[in-house]
Amino acid sequence: MRIPLVVGNWKMHGRLADAKALASAVVGQTAALSGVERAVCPPFVHLSTVADCVADSDVGLGAQHCADGPIGAHTGEVAAEMLADLGVGYVILGHSERRQYDNERESGIAKRYEQALSQGLRPILCVGESLEAREAGQTDQVVGAQLTGVLDRLGDAGFGDGVIAYEPIWAIGTGLTASAEQAQAVHASIRALMAERVGDAASDLRILYGGSMKAANAEALLDQPDVDGGLIGGASLSADEFAAICAAAARG
Ligand code: PGA
Repeated sequence: MRIPLVVGNWKMHGRLADAKALASAVVGQTAALSGVERAVCPPFVHLSTVADCVADSDVGLGAQHCADGPIGAHTGEVAAEMLADLGVGYVILGHSERRQYDNERESGIAKRYEQALSQGLRPILCVGESLEAREAGQTDQVVGAQLTGVLDRLGDAGFGDGVIAYEPIWAIGTGLTASAEQAQAVHASIRALMAERVGDAASDLRILYGGSMKAANAEALLDQPDVDGGLIGGASLSADEFAAICAAAARG
């Protein structure tokens, strides 16, 4: 039985007061829900404040990235141990924006993943294809290569209790969403690939959909048998939208 998980990726949005207000509103508006895990991922500099806002609630805390090594001399980076120390429970890794703008590759993502797991953080590993790859019929190959690239470096057992987020690049922040059928098809392929690598554990693995998920389309996506929640960007900046998506996941 997979408990749905809905995660807000706030990206590089907002000032401290905005983060505080949004976190408090999410706590208030999701308080009555059961049967759905939820978490918010503010920018690093807001984590500590948001940790206080969600402290006495069921809303979890996540980061958007972590360093590929332990605490030490690495200017500008943040170690997984520092995140765990603040009460962070999740960390998004391999987001397509980081792959695109920060040149992240599987080797580095696998190291970050190991660091996260070693500190008790739950990694949310993002994979997804470009529009060109989809149009060329290469979605499964691209997503498969991203997953196996990380798994080969981690070792199958090294995947631990991670979460996968399928985020087609063409759907991120564009208003275009994968149809429920498109999402289900890729999620089912991901689960089949993971079953080859981690065996029965693949049936407990949560695979989130991300890419312009919002209140209006959440239910159709979350109704799919292999869609176990969402990684929400733009819509997570509105507590109303985010709470509505959490409610749809709780019903699904
Ligand atoms: P979006 O972003 O919901 O704004 O498309 C999702 C993500 O990048 O995680």
